[in-house]
Amino acid sequence: MALLPILEVPDPRLRQKAAPVQGIDSEVTALLEDMLETMYAAPGIGLAAPQVGIGRRIVVLDVSPKEEERRPLRLINPEVVETGGEAVEAEEGCLSLPNQYAPVKRPERVRVRYLDEHGQEREIDADGLLARCLQHEIDHLDGVLFTDHLSRLKREMLLKKLDKQRRQRAS
Ligand code: NI
Repeated sequence: MALLPILEVPDPRLRQKAAPVQGIDSEVTALLEDMLETMYAAPGIGLAAPQVGIGRRIVVLDVSPKEEERRPLRLINPEVVETGGEAVEAEEGCLSLPNQYAPVKRPERVRVRYLDEHGQEREIDADGLLARCLQHEIDHLDGVLFTDHLSRLKREMLLKKLDKQRRQRAS
């Protein structure tokens, strides 16, 4: 297993649409494990392959509380097949925009279809944090960042704060 470097905004690879995985081979399963290790080390609750520079439709996540045992999810070619409930707003962050958070409005519930690491088709019905995390990570596969869901003003403020933070670190 290996820690992978996480790309940050404005890396153009974060904006590309990822390609579907055609076959689940040892390369894919190794990538899943490396992505999980990278996500836990960050630490984060979700990571999409484009964030480590790989343009394939692969996501890992684990929203279990810190004090509980790990419950990793490995999703290949995930897609939202249904949304439900009201649009709810909650704070989000992203490993590609370190230390920046903003409230994002998303559907309360989703059904996601995906292949697991054995190539088995599965569905997951999620609400709460898991529903939010799934939508956030699947967005990454289409080159969409959570800041795209904000108003222009809020987005610009957040990107300015990110810039400022980088300048402070550099000096
Ligand atoms: Ni993210």
